Parts: sequence; structure tokens; C-alpha cells
Amino acid sequence: MSGLFITFEGPEGSGKSTHSNELAERLRSMGYEVLKAREPGGTPTGEAIREILQHDSVGEPIVRETEILLFAASRAQLVQRVIKPALARGCVVICDRFADSTTAYQGYGRDFDVERVLNLNEWATDGLAPDATLLMDLDVGIGFERIHQRNLALDQGEDRFEREARAFHERVRQGYLVLAERWPERFHVIQSEASVDAVSTEVWRVVEPLLSAVGGGRPADED
Ligand SMILES: Nc1ncnc2c1ncn2[C@@H]1O[C@H](COP(=O)(O)OP(=O)(O)OP(=O)(O)O)[C@@H](O)[C@H]1O
Ligand SMILES: [Mg+2]
Repeated sequence: MSGLFITFEGPEGSGKSTHSNELAERLRSMGYEVLKAREPGGTPTGEAIREILQHDSVGEPIVRETEILLFAASRAQLVQRVIKPALARGCVVICDRFADSTTAYQGYGRDFDVERVLNLNEWATDGLAPDATLLMDLDVGIGFERIHQRNLALDQGEDRFEREARAFHERVRQGYLVLAERWPERFHVIQSEASVDAVSTEVWRVVEPLLSAVGGGRPADED
């Protein structure tokens, strides 16, 4: 495949959406063809699954196995219908969460067998792994405070995951760090406590050298 596949991962409120959106805009303004997707979602089927997973829309508790399979189903649809075709066209694909979220949340967070989750991910993604994963690492308490402020500003309530206990989110954060140690070539840990501008600079430091693999852009200092 000729494109470039970048994912943003990390605990709640760590800046995934802020920085994945900003990176997508930056690359577009440089002339790259960018495909931005969010997980779960990104396809009509995936968005319907997102509604079930984030907002309790079915009105019953979702068991662990069902939760994992719903995430995997949304991802399979996204990979085959959207991501792989975009990479084949030479796009930069940027995903706000991907398979590592399932390993961190459903594996480490819910104390499910991590190796089984990894196997399921492999199956659902048809073996597709990101070229680079930016792990936005942040103290859980600071992430919660940021989300609280964001929800207040947007006048929205907490979703199903934001209501989970603090210990759950600590396990998620530590789980991500274990994954980053296991795949050091793919993972780039970004300290996300700094200002938005400082974090953006770090994100760019990681991404810029990867762009030589894709065509279509032009140097940032050209008009
Ligand atoms: N470096 C930063 N310093 C201060 N506030 C930030 C920083 N980065 C993001 N924020 C703010 O924190 C809030 C959460 O950021 P964002 O929505 O990007 O996180 P997220 O990782 O996508 O969260 P979620 O896990 O809920 O999807 C937003 O209101 C955002 O403006
Ligand atoms: Mg987000």
C-alpha cells in the first residue's frame, strides 16, 4: 500500500481529537489527500454501533464479550470499506482511536485476556496495523478535568466510558504504556500535559519524517 496510516490513542481527554483534527487540517493545507475517521464509527454501520456503545441506546447492560465484538465489527467495516481503499489511493489516513483502544479498554481496563483481544483485533483488521501510533499520555485526573470542562462548555453529559471508575481508567493508561513498550517502533508516546501548542509541535516532530513515504504534499514553507 502506498498511503500512510496514523492513529491517535490515549486515555480520556488526552487530546486525541484536538490533535488528530489539527494534524488532518495541517496536512490538507499542505496538499496531502487526508482521510480522517473516528472509532467506533466512520461508516453508517459503524456509527450505528457507536450509538449503542457510547450512549446505552439499547437500554440494557452490555456484556464484555458483546462490547468487544461490537468494536471489532465497527472496525472491520471501517478497514475494508474506508481505510484500505484510501491507503491504496495513496491517502494519509488519520484515525482517532483504532485497535489499540480495544486492547487498552476491553483488555487491560476490563481485565479480559489481552492476548485474546489482540487475536480478535488481528482478525477484525485483516492484519492491518498503523504505520505510526501517537499515544497521548496524560494523568487520568487531568484528563477527567479537561473532559469535565469540555462537557460543560458543550452542555453535554458524560458517556458510558466517562462514567467508569477512576481505577478502570488507570488500568487503561497503564495498558497503553505496556503496548507502547511492546511495539516501540510503531508507538510514539507524547506527553500531553503541556500546552496545546507544545503538544502540536511534538506531534509534528513525529509525523513530518514519515511523509516522505507518501506523495502529494509540498513543503510547509511553500505557498
Ligand atoms: N494540551 C492541552 N491543554 C489543555 N487543554 C487541552 C489540551 N489538549 C486538549 N485540551 C482540551 O481538553 C479537552 C479534551 O480534549 P480532546 O477532546 O481532544 O481529548 P480526547 O482525547 O479526544 O478525549 P476523548 O477521550 O473524550 O475523546 C478539550 O476541551 C480540549 O480543548
Ligand atoms: Mg475525542
